This record gives sequence, structure tokens and C-alpha cells, in this order.
Amino acid sequence: MIRIRPMVPDDIPDIVNIEKACFPDPWNALLFYIELRHPDVHSLVAADRKKCCAYLIFRKEEKGLHILNLAVIESHRRRGIAGKLLRRMLHYAKRVSAPALILEVSENNTAARAFYTAKGFEVYGREAGYYEHDASDALRMMKKLEKM
Ligand SMILES: CC(C)(COP(=O)(O)OP(=O)(O)OC[C@H]1O[C@@H](n2cnc3c(N)ncnc32)[C@H](O)[C@@H]1OP(=O)(O)O)[C@@H](O)C(=O)NCCC(=O)NCCS
Repeated sequence: MIRIRPMVPDDIPDIVNIEKACFPDPWNALLFYIELRHPDVHSLVAADRKKCCAYLIFRKEEKGLHILNLAVIESHRRRGIAGKLLRRMLHYAKRVSAPALILEVSENNTAARAFYTAKGFEVYGREAGYYEHDASDALRMMKKLEKM
């Protein structure tokens, strides 16, 4: 059974494999070790007893919780796993009264744009040539959260 739990250092080899499979400019293990130690950075994994199949990492900032990375291995997509990770993040957002969730996504990433739109995010900005690997623009997306 797949469950959502906080990321621990032992997960990092799995996470780096997911990164390499999902992104043209993957984060390396050292970057994850550094981020895991940062007090404002939070990370979740979706895992069975042996392996992680997805993860979400975000940072608490003044304007809201900033999604740094979200990925699900290809074989496990369209099963609601990213949605479950996001729901867990929303529980945390409510606890800390975060005003919004924010992120950047490549304009060419149709799957991720569809996912975030389905989850209530809206585009509020664009940054030209943000992604080095294909010089694509980043769309800045935000989901505003109700005050509790
Ligand atoms: C984007 C991503 C995280 C979505 O993960 P997922 O677990 O497949 O998403 P879910 O199953 O929770 O999808 C929930 C809803 O989002 C939308 N959605 C997700 N993937 C979609 C796709 N490829 N095309 C259209 N809509 C999509 C649908 O509305 C979906 O609901 P449905 O399956 O009932 O139609 C996944 O495709 C991924 O890891 N992509 C590669 C990494 C990446 O681009 N990360 C984002 C960086 S900003």
C-alpha cells in the first residue's frame, strides 16, 4: 500500500532516480540533503514499504508555500498520487495559515499545467526563458487559500 509520509535521508537515492527520470535538469543528492536540513523546507514522499514513487518538496516563504518540486514516476501517474501529496501539503498550509501555494512551471509542461489547473491554481505571471534546457518561459501559478 502506498502512503504519504515525510521524506527521510534514506529516501534520497530513490528520489534522485525519480528526478533523473522526470526532469532534464535533475537535482542531485547533495541538493536534497541540504534542502532536507533547512528549517523552512518540507518534503513528503509517496512510498510503499520498499520504494518511493513520488515526492513533493516545498519551502515556507512570506507570500506562501512555494512548491520547489513535485514528481510521480511514470508508471504510477493518473492514480491520484500527486493529488494526495498536495492534500497533505494543504493540511500543513492550514496549520501555519499560509496565504497561498505558489510555483513555477514550464509553459511546455502540459501535464503539470493540467494538474495544477485541476487543483485550483491560476497563472499570475510569466518569466521569459526561465528554463535553461529549452529556454522555455516559466508560468507563475498560485492557489489562494482562505483565511482560517
Ligand atoms: C504533473 C504530475 C506530478 C501529476 O501527477 P499524477 O499523480 O499523475 O496526478 P494525479 O493523478 O493526482 O492527477 C490529478 C488530476 O490532474 C490532472 N492531470 C494530471 N496529469 C494530467 C495529464 N497528463 N493530462 C491532463 N490532465 C492531467 C487531471 O485532472 C487529473 O485527474 P484525473 O486523472 O481524474 O483526470 C506528473 O505528471 C509528473 O510527475 N510529471 C513529471 C514531473 C513534473 O512535470 N512535475 C511538475 C513540476 S512543476
